[in-house]
Amino acid sequence: MLVKNCKIIDKDGKDIVTDILIENGVITKIEKNISAPAGEIIDAEEKYVLPGIVDVHTHMRDPGLTQKEDFTTGSMACARGGVTTFIDMPNTIPVTVTKEALADKKALMNGRAYVDYGFHFGGSKKDNSSEIKDIINETASTKIFLNMSTGDMLIDDEKTVENIFRESKIISVHAEEEMVAKAIEFCEKYDKELYLCHLSKASEIELLKAAKARGAKVFGEVTPHHLFLNTDDVSKTERSQLLLRMKPELKEKSDNDALWAALADGTLDTIGTDHAPHLIEEKLAKLTFGVPSVENSLEMMLNGVKDGKITLKRLIEVMCNKPADIFKIKNKGNITAGYDGDLVIIDITDNSPVKDDKVITKAGWTPYENCNKGGKVLTTILRGQVVYSNGKFNGLYGREVKYYE
Ligand code: DOR
Ligand code: ZN
Ligand code: ZN
Repeated sequence: MLVKNCKIIDKDGKDIVTDILIENGVITKIEKNISAPAGEIIDAEEKYVLPGIVDVHTHMRDPGLTQKEDFTTGSMACARGGVTTFIDMPNTIPVTVTKEALADKKALMNGRAYVDYGFHFGGSKKDNSSEIKDIINETASTKIFLNMSTGDMLIDDEKTVENIFRESKIISVHAEEEMVAKAIEFCEKYDKELYLCHLSKASEIELLKAAKARGAKVFGEVTPHHLFLNTDDVSKTERSQLLLRMKPELKEKSDNDALWAALADGTLDTIGTDHAPHLIEEKLAKLTFGVPSVENSLEMMLNGVKDGKITLKRLIEVMCNKPADIFKIKNKGNITAGYDGDLVIIDITDNSPVKDDKVITKAGWTPYENCNKGGKVLTTILRGQVVYSNGKFNGLYGREVKYYE
C-alpha cells in the first residue's frame, strides 16, 4: 500500500508532507514522491497521519460478559477510533489468572478482531505468582487490583502482592490514593517496573513525580474521561449521576487541570482509555462502574491539541510511542521504517459532535454525547490494510502482538 501526501510530525515537531510505503504490512519507505508500486494507493490529501493508537487499557468483556462487548465489537470500536493495537484486561469470566485461562482466551480470540491485540495477565488473590514466569514473555504485564472495582480481583493480602511483584517483569495496577503510594513502595522494594493505571487526582500526580525523581521505574497513565470530565458533569442530571460513574471516580476541575499539566510536562506517560463497556440499561438500572471510550479517545484528545493544552507531537508520544515502549510491544506506535504499517488519517478541521446513536460499542452510549471532537478519524490502516474508512469496516485481520525483551 502507498499512502500519498501524508502530513506527519517530524522529530523536531515540524509538519512535513510525505508519502509512506507499506510492503507486506511493514513500513519500508517514508519519502516524497514514491512512485506507485502495484497495490492500493490512498491519497491522504495533506491531512495529518498519525501512528495507529496503542491503547494498553481496555476491558473487552470476552469471554463471559459478551452482552456488554465482545472481541469483534470492541475491536471494531477500536478501528473506528483510530486504535490499531489494544491490550485486554483480565477481569473477564473466567478471570485470566492461570496459564490455561490465558491459552483459552488466546485461542478463543483468534481471527475475531479488526485490529491487533494483546493481553494482560491477572494477579490472583489465590497467589498465582508461580505461574507468572511461564507467561511473562507472552503478556504485556501482570495486572493487579489494589482497590475494589468491577470483577472480584481485589488482592488485599500484602504477602500475595509482594510475591506477584517479585515474579513479574512489569506490574500494572489499579490503585487509588494511598494504594498508589503502596504500589510505588513495592516497585522500589523489588526494583520492578510499575504502570499506574488511570491516575485521577492531583495528589497522585505528586506521588508519581516524587517517585520518578527518586529514580523509580514508574509510569503513569491517564484516561480521557479523567481529563475532560469532573464532578460538575456527574451532578448535572439524574442520568449523568448514573452514567458518569467509574473507578476511580471523576474528581474536581482542579484535578483535570493538574492532569493536563502533568501530561504536557512528561510526568504522565500515556493515555489509556480504560474502555469499560456496560450496557446503557445496566448503567441506568443500578450503580455500575465503568465507561466505554475506545472509539472516542483520539477524537476527544485532539481537543487538547486544539485548545493548546498539549502539542500534537506530545499527543502522539502519549497515545502511540510510549504505550508501545513501556510494554515493549514489537514494531508498534511509530511511523518508522521497519515498524508495522498502522496509520490513522485524521481531519482536524472536523469538530462535529460525538453522538450516542453513532457508537459502535455494544454499550450503546458514550460519556462524550454532544461534545465537539477535536478532529475526526477518517481512515484506519492496520499493517497496510484499510480496516475502517468513512463509516465502513473491513476485515478481521487483527492478530496478537509480540513483545521484545
Ligand atoms: O470503572 C471501572 N470499570 N474501573 C475498573 O477498574 C474496571 C472497570 C470495569 O471492568 O468495568
Ligand atoms: Zn482500574
Ligand atoms: Zn480498567
